Amino acid sequence: MNVLIIGGAGYIGSHMVALLAEHGADVTTFDNLSSGYRDSVIAGEFVHGDLADPYAIDAVLARKRFDAVMHFASYIQVGESVRNPAIYYRNNVANTLNLLQSMVAHDVKRFIFSSTAAVFGVPQTDLIDEEHVKAPINPYGASKLMVERMLADFDVAYGLKSVALRYFNAAGADPQARIGERHEPETHLIPLVLQAASGYRPNISVFGRDYQTADGTCIRDYIHVRDLADAHRLAIEHLLHTGSSEQFNLGNGNGYSVAEVIEVARRVTGRTIEVVDGPRREGDPAKLVANSTKAKAVLGWNPQFADLETIVKHAWAWEQRQLEARKG
Ligand code: UFG
Repeated sequence: MNVLIIGGAGYIGSHMVALLAEHGADVTTFDNLSSGYRDSVIAGEFVHGDLADPYAIDAVLARKRFDAVMHFASYIQVGESVRNPAIYYRNNVANTLNLLQSMVAHDVKRFIFSSTAAVFGVPQTDLIDEEHVKAPINPYGASKLMVERMLADFDVAYGLKSVALRYFNAAGADPQARIGERHEPETHLIPLVLQAASGYRPNISVFGRDYQTADGTCIRDYIHVRDLADAHRLAIEHLLHTGSSEQFNLGNGNGYSVAEVIEVARRVTGRTIEVVDGPRREGDPAKLVANSTKAKAVLGWNPQFADLETIVKHAWAWEQRQLEARKG
């Protein structure tokens, strides 16, 4: 099976490359290295190119007959999307449209899309399933929902079959610590907490303790990056077996508060972690937890690293490797 992975040098994309290669797929990564790293691509072929360049996309699709395309290359910061929506609509929507048109021209009919819990906006129910109302409250979520809409239309008009996977909070690292999260700047809770544990940062700021939750801090559903990658692999299988276009919410269905994450990190690392209380971060809902029953039923998805302790353990092994690399 030939798979093209757009954004395969990034956090989730690089775990996808590794997992698909282990399953015997022939993987080609296409990435402009704007936020990814060449050495995160540990298998397959690497093509340096920019999604903003339709000729480069055309050229990579002409290299071989791809059975499927996966698309991880997008901007992902909610706050930045509010301040600079233009780059979100340009990169996440317009460039994806170019990619889809090029796929149609090359007769590539299967597409796996990285979507997000941010398409839902403010949660109306305790657990969020696929039917939950989609009312994004920031340009990031809106940009992903626009692509989901385009995918529905491309299916009807051109027969392009797709699976949109809506991630809740991607976390953890490769169980062998070969690759992991390397955002610059880092904004995600678990790597920041672990950087505070390793001494790379002085402390971790808790963004708000006055939410309507048991301990007052925000609750999120942390899902291991390797389990996310596995859902993508199963999504290709689904489309190969002539499955219909679908959307799936991907999480563990368990919520952990920011304070609980810090406590687990203290246990796993055995380090003291200094906590500073900060104000709420704009646009943060109190609680986001997935109902992933559909992914389990339709794709046969079965997360292997569902407990937060394992997620933090793997992220900690990676943070320690990073610390060595930063010294070296
Ligand atoms: N947090 C802190 N301190 C920090 C960083 C984060 O307290 O230094 C808190 C946040 O306020 C939030 C929780 O930790 O309550 C998790 O924050 P992350 O930034 O790790 O993740 P988000 O839940 O904000 O983001 C995730 C995805 C986004 C997606 C969003 C949907 O990473 O891509 O969910 O709301 F858009």
